[in-house]
Amino acid sequence: MIKIGVIDGDGTGPEVVAETLKVLVAVASKFSLSLEFTHLPYNGSRYLKEGKTLDDAELEDLKCFDALLLGAIGHVDIKPGIVEKGILLKIRFGLDQYINLRPVKLYPNVETPIKNKGPKDIDYVIIRENSGGLYTGAGGTSMKNTPYEVATQSMIYSYHQVKRCVLYAFEYARKRHLESPWKGLTESELEQGFKGKLTLCGKSNVLTYVFDLWERAVSELEKKYPEIKTDYVHVDAMCIYMIECPERFDVIVTENLFGDIITDLAAVTQGGLGISPGGNINPTGVSMFEPIGGTAPLFTGKNQINPLASILSAQLMLAHLGYSEAAQAIELAVMAVIKKMDSMAAAKMGFSTTEIGTMVAQCV
Ligand code: IPM
Ligand code: MN
Repeated sequence: MIKIGVIDGDGTGPEVVAETLKVLVAVASKFSLSLEFTHLPYNGSRYLKEGKTLDDAELEDLKCFDALLLGAIGHVDIKPGIVEKGILLKIRFGLDQYINLRPVKLYPNVETPIKNKGPKDIDYVIIRENSGGLYTGAGGTSMKNTPYEVATQSMIYSYHQVKRCVLYAFEYARKRHLESPWKGLTESELEQGFKGKLTLCGKSNVLTYVFDLWERAVSELEKKYPEIKTDYVHVDAMCIYMIECPERFDVIVTENLFGDIITDLAAVTQGGLGISPGGNINPTGVSMFEPIGGTAPLFTGKNQINPLASILSAQLMLAHLGYSEAAQAIELAVMAVIKKMDSMAAAKMGFSTTEIGTMVAQCV
């Protein structure tokens, strides 16, 4: 029995999660998996009613699940930061989900705004550190509401945090090519030198203390992974290369806020937030899978939001739990549905959330 805690969340979260569960039910029956879903009420609406985000006992209870699936957290009637910090970040930190895994993959038949680039150019993974940096919230204000008011918020990293993240990235890079036959590299890809590579994205020319830690972690660990090439790119230059030359990336590892920002840019290149999945991973604990995008308040309740980002997050969840065939079945079904939608697009203006979910489930 695989126990999955489902946090439908706010806005369009419940709509995309409902479609994801349809797909998971189909996968479970095809692969004889027994999945148990428990819906959890942690969201902005509950906060508005009860003034409660997620308390410590509720956080503790999340540890009984094999994995968590989350729609989106955030509410238009609540000041930004309250439920994001009180629910989403509390889970990421509380369950020590120190990796935020965000694959960037342009599927065939999906439009990218980058001219002359296609699926073989845009296929890499961003590993965002998820437990430290500016997100620790260390800082404060003094002399509030005076002309001399001072505000600070610090980028904090311990060597331990950096090293475990870089270690995960090296392991991920190794597994991505050497242990997954269907993703094996061709001779020419190997010669080109872009794949089988880990790129550290930082800002070592300004944030000298923090990125000294990151660079040292990479140079210490690279000795243990001689088959993986390493590279370094400043975060500002990264924004150029991700557009001009996305094929140069394979696995990128970066700190928390940089990762937050560049994964939104990456999402656009792979077809938008509607198709960009993610996972908050604790390699030895409970992980949580969620789309990169948010609650999309303008689309709430309209049956218009694309559920594929959430469905692909469930694919990451199954892969993480070790059900790689079931995970692959979701990805193949998504690819088939995208192809079908592309050929039907001329006849039909758009597809609804529920239509897409049903098509993927049927395809599985
Ligand atoms: C994300 C989101 C969150 C983050 C917000 C909602 C706190 O933007 O998952 O990328 O900044 O990590
Ligand atoms: Mn973000």
